[in-house]
Amino acid sequence: MDAGDLLRSVRMAGSPAGWRAVRSAWRRQRIDARDLPGRGPERARVPGVALDAEPMPGGGTVRFTRSVLQVRVAVGGAVFCGWDGAGPEPSYALVDGCPEPDPRALLEPDKDGWRVVSERVTVLISRYGAVEMRTPGGLLLRRELPPRWWDPAVRQDGAVARWVQRSETPADARVYGLGGRASGPRLPAGGYRLWNTDPGGSFQPGDDPLYITMPVRLVVSDAGCHLVFHDNTWDGRVTLRDGEVGAGSGHDRSGGSELRMDGGPLRYWVVTGTPARVLAGWTALTGRPALPPRWALGPQHSRWGFGSQEEVRKVAAGYRDRGLPLSVLHLDIDHFDAHRVFTVDHGRFPDLPGLAAELAEQGVRLVSIVDPAVHAEPGVAAYDSGTAAGAFVKDARGEEVRGVVWPGEAAFPDFTNPAARAWWGGLYAERVAQGFAGVWHDMNEPVSFAAFGDPTLPLSARHALEGRGGDHREAHNVYALMMARAGYEGLRGLRPEQRPFLFSRSGWVGMQRYGGSWSGDVATGWPGLRASLALVLGLGLCGVPYSGPDVGGFTGTPSPELYLRWYQLGGYLPFFRTHSAIDAGRREPWQFGPEVLEHARTALAERMRLMPYLETLANIAHRTGAPYVRPLWWNAPGDRALRDCSDAFLLGDALLVAPVLEPGSRSRAVRLPRGLWYDTVTGQPHRGPAQVLLDAPLGRIPVLARAGAVLPVAGADGGTELEVWAPRLGRTGGGMVCVGDPEGWVRPRMERFATRWADGEVVVERDGKGAGKPVGYPVRVRGTAV
Ligand code: NOJ
Repeated sequence: MDAGDLLRSVRMAGSPAGWRAVRSAWRRQRIDARDLPGRGPERARVPGVALDAEPMPGGGTVRFTRSVLQVRVAVGGAVFCGWDGAGPEPSYALVDGCPEPDPRALLEPDKDGWRVVSERVTVLISRYGAVEMRTPGGLLLRRELPPRWWDPAVRQDGAVARWVQRSETPADARVYGLGGRASGPRLPAGGYRLWNTDPGGSFQPGDDPLYITMPVRLVVSDAGCHLVFHDNTWDGRVTLRDGEVGAGSGHDRSGGSELRMDGGPLRYWVVTGTPARVLAGWTALTGRPALPPRWALGPQHSRWGFGSQEEVRKVAAGYRDRGLPLSVLHLDIDHFDAHRVFTVDHGRFPDLPGLAAELAEQGVRLVSIVDPAVHAEPGVAAYDSGTAAGAFVKDARGEEVRGVVWPGEAAFPDFTNPAARAWWGGLYAERVAQGFAGVWHDMNEPVSFAAFGDPTLPLSARHALEGRGGDHREAHNVYALMMARAGYEGLRGLRPEQRPFLFSRSGWVGMQRYGGSWSGDVATGWPGLRASLALVLGLGLCGVPYSGPDVGGFTGTPSPELYLRWYQLGGYLPFFRTHSAIDAGRREPWQFGPEVLEHARTALAERMRLMPYLETLANIAHRTGAPYVRPLWWNAPGDRALRDCSDAFLLGDALLVAPVLEPGSRSRAVRLPRGLWYDTVTGQPHRGPAQVLLDAPLGRIPVLARAGAVLPVAGADGGTELEVWAPRLGRTGGGMVCVGDPEGWVRPRMERFATRWADGEVVVERDGKGAGKPVGYPVRVRGTAV
């Protein structure tokens, strides 16, 4: 315990809740002191020199004096590398296990070692264990230097090898991803921890780590894009170093990184190609994003501390009376009985099913928070059934591990145990019976309040890990992922005809299979607004496309201007929800004066108009992994200037959104990718690549449409119509429309449209399978010939 910890605990010990947090922190420390295997003497090791190699389907194995490396190219082009005998499985990340090897890829001798040539990538293995990934044209994408291990010198149960791996990337490379990070989306040079963490209270840009960490990096350089994923759930640290183009005497200095892991296998996947191909390959490997029900794309409102059923009804009426659309209301922990999950405070919420039915008639769904911690008190139904199912995490002596969360003393389900997941999934029957349409997973890093030290479970706590057995060092980062699996499967079983709606604060690689996420407790302030966008973009590049911030920020009260700018940004993000803490101000659009209300109304109207487009993007994400919200370089990764841009984004292929992220701004500079872009309000065309200055009055943020875009929007009568932005003269364009099942599983119809100039007019036609059929939608052409 350092001086800061001591101060924190003395301060906390002043209240009963604080005292519990002090006691819990002590308890955690005591258990780990007793049960956690210590780091004894260690011996450093490097692979040594290569001895021989053996080809296998998809690649082969190279034997070194002190290790062995397996390289395997899978069907679809992803490359697997595993050191020290590590294979692709078992893995929490892979959706269907390891894909088949590509039989055409073979290991063969090369001038300084071996190579595996495949359609998309060439892998070169040096005699000392460096591994290079090159494009088919021979350009270097990344070079992994020979790893180094620190093996325990003395055999001891639970003792593991630490390792480090350094890599080099081209001088112009930029790095994105690593889960949900508050600065970015381009990750600045520096260190990033891989340990899911509740920052406590709230967070700002620069706070790291946050709730979702993933050992996933998307790297963009002139040579091409690739994604590298180290399939390892342990605590670790990535350090990024920027390269320099033309450094010193005109020579480039390559960019670099170092990955240090506290344990676990040294194995990684590399996926190469255009950004769209990388995300398609990545989500083929780890799972396509779940398709949210249509209503989850509508405007949502939340608050910690609605306090009563009456209050919830009033908020819904507030929207209705002002003619503001509302799709979802979220109930936080204050509607539970004494903060206990899967209960209701019947005093303040006497008839939730009645309320849910009444709201449903108005088109408003209810979503419930679900926390993993169960109040550890005999007589509490979830605790009793969980105990009977043997579902709670235990320590090395077989005693239940206790922590402290909202309800007080708590036990934690072991979601890495299939039986515990099945038990937990069954508990959602109570939520369904209360009328909830979806769930919001919180506090699942997992959090246990602590006056000092890490606010989570003891590292020595035991987990099933699907029957393999292990401790919290290995299970921590997949705790929320497996909670999401339990919730998703539970809801599917309980309401098989409906697609589950679930979003989760914490998670890991593959969480998109079960649902989305949100920012967590982003601090109210202009920096928090910026962090909101970084998080959504970064998660999208890791394969998690459905997320959004607490609009208005979690803490305090935003100025009317900040609230409005947040609202305007949120309106273009997949998950559009206002939310705030129990001691923070309210977030209804009418709380900030008549001017803000009118501008919020405009933002809401535009959100509703774009619903068919958002639904199309949701389906594209579900089929291909391409996020709804994309960085500006998505279609132009060769444009270096776009790689550093953190203040604008693409919404699908058609729109470029440039939110206002600074106080007082009434215009802003926007960097445009190549092509012609129309200001969607003035219709004025702008040619990219260029930086343009656009008006950003308080009433709107700049949004541009790509010339040639065809996007579905809601017409005045509520039906879908096609908004077509004139292609450049002599050019063509196109777009897609997805006509889907709002809540069920019927496979949606994808319709393609093409647009071109004919006899001085813009015409739109069905394309692809429907070519020749009538368009079937009213068409509105915008933009002028350029
Ligand atoms: C922390 C979550 O991040 C926040 O959104 C929620 O309101 C509180 N927990 C209370 O449940």
